[in-house]
Amino acid sequence: MEIREHGVDDMRELAPLYNAQVAATPFCYPVSSDEFADGVTAWAHPELSGRMRDQTVFVAVERGQPIGFAHITMGRVLEEWSDDAQIDCGAIRFIAYPPGRRDVGQRLIDAAQRRLTDLGASRIHAYTKATAYRFYQLGFGMLSTGVGHVVGLLGMNGYTVRRGEYFLYRPDMDPTVPTPPDPSAKVVVERADGRGDLPNLVVKARQDDTDIGACECKSAGSYADSPDAQRLLYVDWLGVATEFQGQGWGRYLLFRALAEGHDVGYEHAAIGTDWQNYRALLLYANYGFGVTNYAYDFYKAATPDVS
Ligand SMILES: CC(C)(COP(=O)(O)OP(=O)(O)OC[C@H]1O[C@@H](n2cnc3c(N)ncnc32)[C@H](O)[C@@H]1OP(=O)(O)O)[C@@H](O)C(=O)NCCC(=O)NCCS
Repeated sequence: MEIREHGVDDMRELAPLYNAQVAATPFCYPVSSDEFADGVTAWAHPELSGRMRDQTVFVAVERGQPIGFAHITMGRVLEEWSDDAQIDCGAIRFIAYPPGRRDVGQRLIDAAQRRLTDLGASRIHAYTKATAYRFYQLGFGMLSTGVGHVVGLLGMNGYTVRRGEYFLYRPDMDPTVPTPPDPSAKVVVERADGRGDLPNLVVKARQDDTDIGACECKSAGSYADSPDAQRLLYVDWLGVATEFQGQGWGRYLLFRALAEGHDVGYEHAAIGTDWQNYRALLLYANYGFGVTNYAYDFYKAATPDVS
């Protein structure tokens, strides 16, 4: 087995390795070679892609066949809202290697870390949202805990968890239009065509000149081309202004969005929430969504003096 460097311009031949790696991860749909090659450069979050540089891919080759890869980048690889958004560091965007071949995974991670350190990275992140492939897990980045051989490899190489996310799924949509907690509030539903077959949706509530809250939903087809993604409504954001919280608005906006989604043809729904947002988890888990996945992103100091 040898490690070769591979450009990012044409990653088509690596699509089967990606597909095998994510086969058991919810909301990761199989991709064609063309979708793979396009989606690794198109990015889930185009507004953040300009912050990446020096990307490369290390490929493990055995008997002439690729059997694993590690895709890395330098840049400001954290979310715009993160305290560390301006820090320039290294990132592992994705690692694929077959379970049982720890030697392959270790050679790939060694090559990735050596290159990122040579490029000046003081910190290395892995699976951040900003570096997610467009079609990967609703644009979230993050590594499913179900992919144990990669989670374990990162942990044994000194990576610690920075963030966690619950992913929840609702197999059906609720077509019942709920009653707003305050009938005098104004509720507006906006539909906009996006990349998916069905439109994206926003439900907003206002009281006079004050925003009460909003539920913003996208087609999972915004990320992935698979026909299965086209009928999945992904709730990208639900928020209620502090003074209106605890009055039923969160539940109303979510359920109204499900009803609107049902009307335009969505059949299932998905939502993600931060590992410490127990309030949101309670709302979703008590009202028809089941936890279907749990995922992490990771980081480590690349030099001993930087945390
Ligand atoms: C999470 C959030 C959307 C909930 O909206 P809300 O209007 O406050 O919630 P509701 O009054 O509609 O309550 C709905 C459910 O949420 C849960 N919940 C809300 N407040 C709660 C509290 N103080 N304690 C326990 N559960 C609570 C409950 O399950 C509740 O239903 P129940 O009372 O029948 O058990 C809102 O608190 C919010 O905007 N938080 C900040 C932004 C955020 O975290 N968004 C979610 C991102 S994934």
